[in-house]
Amino acid sequence: MAIEGEAADVGAAAGIDTSKASIARVYDMFLGGKDNFAVDREVYETIQAVSPHGDDVAQSIRRWLIRVVRHLAGSEVGIDQFLDIGSGLPTVENTHEIAQRHNPDATVVYVDNDATVAAYGRALMEENDLTHFATADLRDPAALLATPHVAKLDFDRPVAMIQCATLHHIDDADDPAAFMRAYVDALPSGSYLAISHWWDPVDELPEGHLMARELEQRWRESSMGSGRYRTREEIGVLFGGLELLEPGLVELNHWWPDGPRMREISLVERLILGGVAYKP
Ligand SMILES: C[S@@+](CC[C@H](N)C(=O)[O-])C[C@H]1O[C@@H](n2cnc3c(N)ncnc32)[C@H](O)[C@@H]1O
Repeated sequence: MAIEGEAADVGAAAGIDTSKASIARVYDMFLGGKDNFAVDREVYETIQAVSPHGDDVAQSIRRWLIRVVRHLAGSEVGIDQFLDIGSGLPTVENTHEIAQRHNPDATVVYVDNDATVAAYGRALMEENDLTHFATADLRDPAALLATPHVAKLDFDRPVAMIQCATLHHIDDADDPAAFMRAYVDALPSGSYLAISHWWDPVDELPEGHLMARELEQRWRESSMGSGRYRTREEIGVLFGGLELLEPGLVELNHWWPDGPRMREISLVERLILGGVAYKP
């Protein structure tokens, strides 16, 4: 059920700006979520008008996240501390559910700066003693890493930092390469960094490049006001010099898929790359 009328008033009372689309709510719509306002639905429609396969993009991002967390939490890698930055609204298969399924002792700290995520997500994400939620702005690593829940992670042991579909909402003016380098410097040896990011395949896929330009313009002109499709090189820099695990920075459906491809992958679904890096 969409949030309207009385519920919208409750949203406003909870400090949620209902006049502006929220990244978290719009993204949640693409995942099939129901907690959204008219402003969010407007952005959703604008994007779907370019390609009706936006829902597939969100699903492939979620499937990639599941594969990454499963790999890192599983016995082969054995990470038991996850820092999921820009976690979004709770949905099906959240990071703590995946990690704790593979390692019941895994601690997961979610961070987001969205008022709706804080209002609706905190309860679900704090559903056991090893799962926490913190409000912080990811553009400020020092402040984020000092928030009480994050500071409780043991930075003398490996941590998996996840930036899933977050950094493409950060403008160049905020210098994501510089603050990602600060995160990488703070990560202990043996840590992993997973990033998925909208891609402008400028030299690799001409029709994809045109679509990326069109989508970027629509996202930025919407009331959400953010969105950057970066080149492969620009995304690569966000790993702060760390070495990527195989198969590198690739289209999400090419990152260790669960099995053979059973359907056509639409162009818009190809416009996002993901990779996982290791800090020796
Ligand atoms: C597209 S959603 C992705 C959510 C989740 N990571 C996933 O993959 O399902 C991007 C998330 O990043 C959050 N975000 C954007 N800018 C942020 C910032 N400056 N600080 C913290 N979170 C931010 C948004 O609120 C939103 O929840």
